[in-house]
Amino acid sequence: MNFTKTLLAWYDANARKLPWRENKDPYRVWISEIMLQQTRVAAVIPYYARFMEALPSVRDLAGVSEEILMKLWQGLGYYSRAANLKKAAQVIMEQHGGVFPREVNEILELPGIGPYTAGAVSSIAFSKPEAAVDGNVLRIFSRILMISGDIGSSAVKRGIAAEVQKRVSRERPGDFNQGLMDLGATICLPGKPLCPECPVEKFCAARKCGRQQELPVKTAK
Ligand code: ADE
Repeated sequence: MNFTKTLLAWYDANARKLPWRENKDPYRVWISEIMLQQTRVAAVIPYYARFMEALPSVRDLAGVSEEILMKLWQGLGYYSRAANLKKAAQVIMEQHGGVFPREVNEILELPGIGPYTAGAVSSIAFSKPEAAVDGNVLRIFSRILMISGDIGSSAVKRGIAAEVQKRVSRERPGDFNQGLMDLGATICLPGKPLCPECPVEKFCAARKCGRQQELPVKTAK
């Protein structure tokens, strides 16, 4: 079995049960990905539940008062994320008739959405074969491919993104990307990866040389 199929088989057996995985509504996926950008899964869960209950649709978010939005975000930090969510919801109401856009280039134009979030939403919600490369995915692939260049450099990031893109499942891109997220959160850990438990150990060049703990290389900026 290749890397992609092996990762998907592991995900089928081990996927974490998380509230934003209950359905593929693009609005729900989008809100979860923005919350998860700078905040850990365990911290996000209660905020996510409250947010979805208070603002269950794009229309609700577009019309929310600053006061309520602030209260819902209080404690998550990086308040600009919340301000951009509301702005993007207004753009979706005005330019897309209240329907979350399906094309990656349209998604990328929304305030607060960069390549990672656009890839995550389009793969998870719309089954588009797009990579979603965040710090976890850079770490995993720096090890798999034994890339010792600085993962802070844009050339290295681009190179890794191209390698991930080649491997994204055409049938199940969202599960592939979320499989990488779970692998990075539970096994391919920053300090001490749990290689004996890793489903893709046999594909890992760094592991073969015992160099997994030296990667990724990230020089302080
Ligand atoms: N981190 C970022 N996106 C995630 C997702 N969809 N599931 C789990 N962890 C994540």
